[in-house]
Amino acid sequence: MEKKITVIRGDGIGPEIVTEAIKVLDKTAEKFGHKFEYTDILMGGCSIDACGVPLTDEAVATAKAADAVLLGAIGGNTSTSPWYKLEPKLRPEAGLLKIRKELGLFANLRPAVLYSQLKDACPLREDIVENGFDMMIMRELTGGLYFGDRKTEVRDGLETAVDTLVYNENEIRRIAIKGFDIAMKRRKKVTSVDKANVLDSSRLWRKIVNEVAKDYPEVELEHMLVDNCAMQLVRDPAQFDVVLTENMFGDILSDEAAMVSGSLGMLASASLNDTKFGLYEPSHGSAPDIAGQDKANPIATIISAAMMLRYSFDMDKEADAIEAAVSKVLDEGYRTGDISSEGCTIVGCRKMGDLIAERI
Ligand code: IPM
Ligand code: MG
Repeated sequence: MEKKITVIRGDGIGPEIVTEAIKVLDKTAEKFGHKFEYTDILMGGCSIDACGVPLTDEAVATAKAADAVLLGAIGGNTSTSPWYKLEPKLRPEAGLLKIRKELGLFANLRPAVLYSQLKDACPLREDIVENGFDMMIMRELTGGLYFGDRKTEVRDGLETAVDTLVYNENEIRRIAIKGFDIAMKRRKKVTSVDKANVLDSSRLWRKIVNEVAKDYPEVELEHMLVDNCAMQLVRDPAQFDVVLTENMFGDILSDEAAMVSGSLGMLASASLNDTKFGLYEPSHGSAPDIAGQDKANPIATIISAAMMLRYSFDMDKEADAIEAAVSKVLDEGYRTGDISSEGCTIVGCRKMGDLIAERI
């Protein structure tokens, strides 16, 4: 098969980790007889520097014409980088929000898994995680507080800021359907997370999720308040299969779930619209403090590339091969600094990419 991939290397460690993912993709293509064609676009700080905006319309058009998008990471240090002196709509993150909206990427899948090889890195007590955990945070990505009207103005002599949390029933229904579809391929449990004891948007969320659930009699549905969910994630992460939630709650809970797994550098993500098209990126950020030092962990980006093969290209065997290669390298004791433990061999970003590619 021939596939067109738009590549966004981005900022910080983005370029290094994307290079390693492409190395692994090329090896996979060679092995399985495919051809991947890559086109680079700029997004984030590098686009601000080159074009004055975090994402140009031409870049969006290039992404739209591809079969999928592979993203490294964008953004810089929010206290020191000059990008954060610009007005909010010109900052790096605005590019990310724009591409999500323009490509209609409403469903964000963030797996949080405890890798058996990396149990030592998990910050939770051993008795809590003795059976491991494997959950999928399904985050709504193009609605809610992130995309509602906002303004800062003076009201009655006081500087006042307003952000608006809006959801309509269609936006809730389509992410709920995706959530239940994914649960059907997993352990058939959905935990829908909201704040229905306070928010109208959450009460509508709960109502629509209940309606969608009627079409999935095999799936067990529970509702959980977001504060309780934050607590349950550290109390008993194994109880979760699919965690279905709105944009802002999903942002926060997915970082918590990632941290609990102890290996943020290993966690991939997919952002999908209602076709096969998707944008794939690691769950971690651009880590400007270690950029350019060959220290970054490329595994989350490599696994994101595997997700791209699985979800956008229907290449299950190929995705399996990449995941197996990652597992093999971990079994052999190779680690980047962020996931290292005693007795392991510490390698840099490039070497980790080489080792994984060699094992495809
Ligand atoms: C994420 C990030 C983004 C978000 C930021 C960079 C705008 O935290 O992808 O989780 O909040 O969506
Ligand atoms: Mg986040």
